[in-house]
Amino acid sequence: MKKTAIGVFDSGYGGLTILKEIVKQLPDYDYIYLGDNARAPYGPRSFDTVYQYTLQCVEWFFEQGCELVILACNTASAKALRNIQQKDLPKLGTNKRVLGVIRPSTEIIGNFSKTGSIGILGTIGTVLSESYPIEIHHFFPEIKVFQQACPMWVPLIENGAFNSPGADYFIKQYLDELLAQSAEIDTILLACTHYPILIDKIKQYLPVGIELVSQGAIVAKSLAQYLDNHQDISQMISKTGSLHFFTTDSAADFDNHASLFFGKEVKSEHIFL
Ligand code: DGL
Repeated sequence: MKKTAIGVFDSGYGGLTILKEIVKQLPDYDYIYLGDNARAPYGPRSFDTVYQYTLQCVEWFFEQGCELVILACNTASAKALRNIQQKDLPKLGTNKRVLGVIRPSTEIIGNFSKTGSIGILGTIGTVLSESYPIEIHHFFPEIKVFQQACPMWVPLIENGAFNSPGADYFIKQYLDELLAQSAEIDTILLACTHYPILIDKIKQYLPVGIELVSQGAIVAKSLAQYLDNHQDISQMISKTGSLHFFTTDSAADFDNHASLFFGKEVKSEHIFL
């Protein structure tokens, strides 16, 4: 049996904030990262478009031999994961697994809050899908969930403008809009894998006493548990500690931007889908 890498997918660079934490917790495995930069952002796109784009990328991972693919993108997890798991995987090969970032986050986020009121910051697609309220209520029926879409944040990050006065304006605006929904919110989840880049700025505008939670370490811990519980899958993954990066847009652009998200220089290859 040929062993293969774990596939990690995002619409662009955001998934690198998740991969960074996964590699920290599980350094021995091999990983392939794909950013669909040519078609990012996914956030404002329709359900069907995000589903089709994500499925195409998942199929590409399967062609590379990956048995396990992580959708390190909330928008793709919200709009495509269920369809892929229920409709496509049975056709594509039952041994293959595709996991998202919403479930690991929602199954523990309730434990962070003392007031029982949680704020979710995400893309328009993630917010409109209602995936977070639905999943959180599944694990924590009593928790109140308040959502705020932040459509300007990904473009500001992707365009390298997150330290500009314009970024401050939109960071404050969306936080104000979220916090105006309830004075009880004491925990805010960054439910978009791009948003950790803004964490210091967001903290500047948050009232004291509100905890800001990023997903990277949470998703990494959940994956470690998953691989521990599923030895059959863990055995199928090669363990030489390698990392390979691919992008659907310019590899030079990807390499220029990626270190901000991954914390290290990367060398990527371009692919056409
Ligand atoms: N990183 C993606 C997420 O976690 C959003 C970026 C995009 O809009 O493409 O939702």
